[in-house]
Amino acid sequence: MYHDFNYEATLASSLRAQWRLDDVLREDQNLDFSRNFMPESLARTAALDTLNPFEQRILNQISAHQYLSIFGVVEEFILPFLLDHARPSFREDDWRIRAILNFAGEEAKHIHLFKRFHQAFVRGFPVECQVIGPSEAIGAEILKHDPLAVGLVILMIEWMTQQHYLGSIRDDGDLDPLFKSLMKHHWMEEAQHAKLDTLIVDALAEGRSEEQIDKAIDEFFEIGAFLDNGLQVQAGLNLDALEKAIGRPVDRDAILPQQHQAARWTYIGSGMVHERFKTTLESLSPNAAKRIAEAAPVFA
Ligand SMILES: [Fe+2]
Ligand SMILES: [Fe+2]
Repeated sequence: MYHDFNYEATLASSLRAQWRLDDVLREDQNLDFSRNFMPESLARTAALDTLNPFEQRILNQISAHQYLSIFGVVEEFILPFLLDHARPSFREDDWRIRAILNFAGEEAKHIHLFKRFHQAFVRGFPVECQVIGPSEAIGAEILKHDPLAVGLVILMIEWMTQQHYLGSIRDDGDLDPLFKSLMKHHWMEEAQHAKLDTLIVDALAEGRSEEQIDKAIDEFFEIGAFLDNGLQVQAGLNLDALEKAIGRPVDRDAILPQQHQAARWTYIGSGMVHERFKTTLESLSPNAAKRIAEAAPVFA
């Protein structure tokens, strides 16, 4: 076995790491709009020299709004995926069913948390930021795919939040402390989810031939392309909000592809290259790992 995760131990660490919504953001708390919300390695706004520092910060905050929205969308399809996975064998293993239902409950709480942050964002930001959607339609499109492909996308996303927090956010002293705390608390629970996702992916891959795994990787790429297309549309919506907020048009031909690429790294690439994700792929099939490693530079 390439890992030592199990349902009993993961449930125990989940219960220890658990927090309440008000521990992270009370309904009356406000974000500090004089600061950046996203780390530069994810937002990539400081590199845009046609924007002044104030405008770069506005775009950084729009990028944080995107983060809240994209994760809201993602958590909304994780929830039904988990329930579908748990239901057929809910009598078999008490640790398993409790761990998965606890995982689902935490994702429901995260949806709630992201909404609360969204409300705090809307209270403090001068213009409305549009978002791709509706989230139900995005979720339905993704869930049409092979559960193994969906499970791999979710596994990638959950490990990615660890890379976002540990790799970029934890040591960045310039960020709004509340937004930083959102990322930290989200990661604390996601770290346990990623272990459960690993067990779910193992179960979904069991008994599949090399060819069937390859087919699931095709579908993984289909979901990736669908998400990527959404990120490109979102990058345009972000620039609409930026132009409205700063009251002038910007050089969209230069900024849009750069910001789309930043989002590709944030929501896809940083997961594709995560060591734990790669280890799971290797265990499924070295060819699956190779295919994803070859695609990863596009999302860097
Ligand atoms: Fe989550
Ligand atoms: Fe999660």
